[in-house]
Amino acid sequence: MNATAPAATSVDWKTIREDFPILRERVQGKPLIYFDSAATSQKPRAVIDALRHYYEHDNANVHRGLHELSSRATEAYEKSRQRVADYLGAASADEIVFTRGTTEGINLIAQAWGGKVLRAGDVILLTEMEHHSNLVPWQLIAERTGARLRFVPVREDGTLALEELPALLTSEVKLFAFTHVSNSLGTINPVAELCAKARAAGALTLVDAAQSAGHLPIDVQEMGCDFLVFSGHKMCAPTGIGALYGRAEILDSIPAWHGGGEMIVSVSLEKSTFKKAPHRFEAGTPNIAGAIGLAAAIDYIERIGRAEIFAHDAMLTAHAIDRLAEVPGMRILGPTEKRGALVGFVMEAAHPHDLTTFADQQGLALRGGHHCNQPLMRKFGLPGTTRASFYFYNTIAEIDRMIEILRDAARFFS
Ligand code: ALA
Repeated sequence: MNATAPAATSVDWKTIREDFPILRERVQGKPLIYFDSAATSQKPRAVIDALRHYYEHDNANVHRGLHELSSRATEAYEKSRQRVADYLGAASADEIVFTRGTTEGINLIAQAWGGKVLRAGDVILLTEMEHHSNLVPWQLIAERTGARLRFVPVREDGTLALEELPALLTSEVKLFAFTHVSNSLGTINPVAELCAKARAAGALTLVDAAQSAGHLPIDVQEMGCDFLVFSGHKMCAPTGIGALYGRAEILDSIPAWHGGGEMIVSVSLEKSTFKKAPHRFEAGTPNIAGAIGLAAAIDYIERIGRAEIFAHDAMLTAHAIDRLAEVPGMRILGPTEKRGALVGFVMEAAHPHDLTTFADQQGLALRGGHHCNQPLMRKFGLPGTTRASFYFYNTIAEIDRMIEILRDAARFFS
């Protein structure tokens, strides 16, 4: 990414910003500047309206009821599954399991796939930049099965030490799970290359697309991954809905995880038989409204265009990095090129929590802390960072205002 070149797109970003009612809020008496979209994005009117329409017109349980509303709810829910499949380039809607989000998708694979396949001595390969959600589930299943965890190191510049892969991707590795975009460094990892190398070594791959699914084009066929997980709420959809993509033949070989209604074919007092994937993995009443909201978010994002969103994100991030360098005592983390829509930084004079509280007083929402990356923070010798994360509704003027606030903070804390 060139640090200065603005993206030339024909999208009317100013009008798009008006689709987000919350961006007109005042916080602490000041106009809100929302730079915490990596934690959760804001929601456009189209998504809010889709939820409202569902609850006002179609609300019923799916699959069970033989009545009109249940048919409508079921049709909308399954149409949303197809929408997610198309969005990811999956071969079929049967490859999409609705989950509560990224964390649940990873736990599903760790517990259900890992519980069946992993043996003592097997290895799960991760990286040092994983969010806790792509670390703790593997620690839990490793403890249960005797498998071991191994890590691709992160270099000082925030990129993965790819030269170490050949030594790490040995025949004991059963799965390589890694993030597409780092939530604290902003690094964009070379997913297709990592998947190809894992496949050549006989390992499956899981891609954590939490920070990328709403920001850049994703095609699971081009990536060559076996599993991919993401959360709706970071890409304009409601909280509590996400999806797991699994390559059909692998997904269908995984045993049931949560048991209950909806996922069975027949049940006796002693034993049950289960549906095929993906329904086998959706026990109980699903988040129907959430799935419909997710499909509305996908429609909305695709109307803008993912390539356009990525270019706009890149322009905002480049501007932020250029301008942050002007603030006294500022250290910026992560690579200078190929970054996602966020920047983590440390100000010499202020702890990230103090800086974030100072910013909040000015209506600026940042995130301060370890960002669910405690091992990574330890590696960099930091208690945490302050993070500004952007989305297509943010503006250059907001970034410039952030710089003024940070300059004030630098004066205040020193
Ligand atoms: N994973 C989210 C973040 O990085 C919560 O903020």
